[in-house]
Amino acid sequence: MPKDALYRDLAASLAGLLEGETDALANLANASALLAQGLERINWCGFYLLRGGDLVLGPFQGKPACVRIPLGKGVCGTAAARTETVVVPDVNAFPGHIACDAASRSEIAVPLVENGEIRGVLDVDSPELARFDAVDREGLEGFVRTLVPLVRWSDLIT
Ligand code: SME
Repeated sequence: MPKDALYRDLAASLAGLLEGETDALANLANASALLAQGLERINWCGFYLLRGGDLVLGPFQGKPACVRIPLGKGVCGTAAARTETVVVPDVNAFPGHIACDAASRSEIAVPLVENGEIRGVLDVDSPELARFDAVDREGLEGFVRTLVPLVRWSDLIT
């Protein structure tokens, strides 16, 4: 299946999966599981959530990961600070990259923005160099656009 169609399918599956439920942890957990099942050649996917001024590890699939990332640090903190997707073809060439799983070679972080407010980031890692292209970027941004209104973000306020 072409990648753009795959991402359209994933966004539609997400809307179906989350229908009738707004609990933040449940919905983010199912969203990470759906991506892990649907995307090939990835070794980690999940959420870092803005809590008390830092990005804090949220629901994910993959190896245990670093828990706390300050805004502006690493790939995730950069995406959150800029409220802009960051695509990193080679994590070893990204200054300040935070290594969680040594297998990761490339990465994409997509900000979660609700009504102009940053809520966190979706982070996906791959063991392959340059795994994420413009289609992945648009596809994951679309996935996040579907996800954000289906999550009751106030559940996560600390
Ligand atoms: N590499 C990320 C940290 C999170 S892990 O990849 C799961 C970063 O630099 O922000």
